[in-house]
Amino acid sequence: MLRHRVARLYDSRKRILVTGGAGFLGSHLCDRLLEQGHEVLCADNLFTGTKRNIDHLHNHPRFEFIRHDVTFPLFVEVDEIYNLACPASPVHYQHDPVQTTKTSVHGAINMLGLAKRLRCRILQASTSEVYGDPQVHPQTEDYWGHVNPIGLRSCYDEGKRCAETLFFDYHRQHGMEIKVARIFNTYGPRMHPRDGRVVSNFIMQALAGDDITIFGDGTQSRSFCYVDDLIDGLMRLMASEPGITGPINLGNPVEFTIRELAETVIRMTGSDSGLVYRDLPSDDPLQRQPDITRASTILKWEPKIGLEDGLTETIAYFRDLQQAEEART
Ligand SMILES: NC(=O)c1ccc[n+]([C@@H]2O[C@H](COP(=O)([O-])OP(=O)(O)OC[C@H]3O[C@@H](n4cnc5c(N)ncnc54)[C@H](O)[C@@H]3O)[C@@H](O)[C@H]2O)c1
Repeated sequence: MLRHRVARLYDSRKRILVTGGAGFLGSHLCDRLLEQGHEVLCADNLFTGTKRNIDHLHNHPRFEFIRHDVTFPLFVEVDEIYNLACPASPVHYQHDPVQTTKTSVHGAINMLGLAKRLRCRILQASTSEVYGDPQVHPQTEDYWGHVNPIGLRSCYDEGKRCAETLFFDYHRQHGMEIKVARIFNTYGPRMHPRDGRVVSNFIMQALAGDDITIFGDGTQSRSFCYVDDLIDGLMRLMASEPGITGPINLGNPVEFTIRELAETVIRMTGSDSGLVYRDLPSDDPLQRQPDITRASTILKWEPKIGLEDGLTETIAYFRDLQQAEEART
């Protein structure tokens, strides 16, 4: 009986490469793949990711970390590739915009080349930013987007669009099994505390007792997906039938205004922060909401974790992080 179980585990065990595996989403993905019994190779140049996110995996017998920049080729032997490497927040991707485009474009070419050599499945972490400032609401996957090709956000938006093109050309030209997920705003523990993203910003400001900064008048809406739901969606997409390529939207369609989010964070942290208003940054979309019909019909996926439950975990994480930082100073 035991021998039978071990054999089955071994049969289904895969070696899986996660690029960007030391980042926010990547580190949660590594955890979940290890929980399922797979071997995980995490490749990351630690630009925005941190070893702290994967510290707990340091001695795990099926986990391996390599410091690697995906703009250079990588020669490893794996059965599946999740390509997540790319800075995801404007402060980080605008820091070195040329490197951001290279990470998306050269990174995609290198990882697709690896997948082609290995004849393995590859999943691309694309983004709702491919829709730009959308004129269609909510966004369905067949909407081509409304993107500024020469603005401050273009290195990220156009880089990700070009990566999608490469994925589909490799698929058409070489018959490769590709999966493209368009990820919408996701939040949770291990987000970078100073990445300027709205959830982390608001929580950090509220915990510090500072006023919460709202760009614009706060009526612009966003939908927020908790990290556990998102990782579940990515893994379902990877496990889907070979003919399922995507793109598939993954995100939480429940919309909140930015002001509602700020007020919820203030209430849940028990903070006495006020709200201050600043001008909207250029090209910031006014509305973003995924249509997840494809994900729910094809992958049988929909988010299960509500905003307040997700915020409880995220606030607890940032509180610990802040206390650890205070203890060090
Ligand atoms: N979090 C979201 O809301 C969201 C939304 C849409 C898309 N995405 C996509 O999901 C992926 C992961 O995002 P995240 O939120 O975890 O961001 P993150 O910044 O926490 O993670 C990205 C990881 O990629 C690494 N990286 C960056 N450039 C690299 C390079 N050249 N070579 C190797 N590693 C590199 C970083 O060090 C980091 O660990 C990204 O591709 C992002 O575009 C995320």
